[in-house]
Amino acid sequence: MKNWTHNKFTIHQFPELESTNSRAFQKAEAREISEFEIILADQQSAGRGRMSRDWFSPKGNLYFSMILQPRVEAHLIPQISFLGILALRLAVEKLTKNSVKNKWPNDLLINEKKVAGLLLESKFSHNICEFIVLGIGVNIDSSPEHAIFPADNLKNLGVEISPQKLLKNFLDEFEKIYQNWLDFGFENSRKLWLKGAFRLHETITVKTDEGKLEGIFENLDEEGNLLIKSGEKISKISAADIS
Ligand code: BTN
Repeated sequence: MKNWTHNKFTIHQFPELESTNSRAFQKAEAREISEFEIILADQQSAGRGRMSRDWFSPKGNLYFSMILQPRVEAHLIPQISFLGILALRLAVEKLTKNSVKNKWPNDLLINEKKVAGLLLESKFSHNICEFIVLGIGVNIDSSPEHAIFPADNLKNLGVEISPQKLLKNFLDEFEKIYQNWLDFGFENSRKLWLKGAFRLHETITVKTDEGKLEGIFENLDEEGNLLIKSGEKISKISAADIS
């Protein structure tokens, strides 16, 4: 294991872990790691995605999980995943002229293919957030061939960057966005997120636990819900997949 720092962040880098999110969560529960510490792995043997999916994790891509401990009310916590993917979009936009979009809730697309995803996990006691684990995986060198949503990687798009450098670029963006959120709230980031939103104001189909819903992607609300308009009705979606 190698430890290094970047600004206020401390990075614990491992050659291989099962999952950086799992390791960060265990360490935070045991109080062995605190805010702005990051678990980074060169590869994962059991990388996890949203909805209990596996996350393709061979060597060459970026896999990390950051601990955050904001002192805010529980309903504001989902906003943090939008801050994370926004920071990643801003970092990646500086590396390519291709179209970079954030796809609700927390995927990053380049030319309509998935290049990165974010998994937020948290621990609460009563209504107080003890810690958050913000995990991000970016396909730099390779991407899965048969994914639910078509995937791509940065190398294939002509971007040459190491996982460490991309992490530093992300942290430079995230530090500013997170501080702005603590000081002034979600509005600024919400607007920036919307500027790069995939399929905004277009007809989309979302798959929720209750079934499929088709409508126009109208907006993102204060709590990170997707607002979909079908006919005169606006539906608020908190967990789903856009297809
Ligand atoms: C998704 O799009 O489904 C979210 C993918 C999140 C993957 C990252 S890789 C680093 C961290 N550790 C994990 O096991 N998962 C996240």
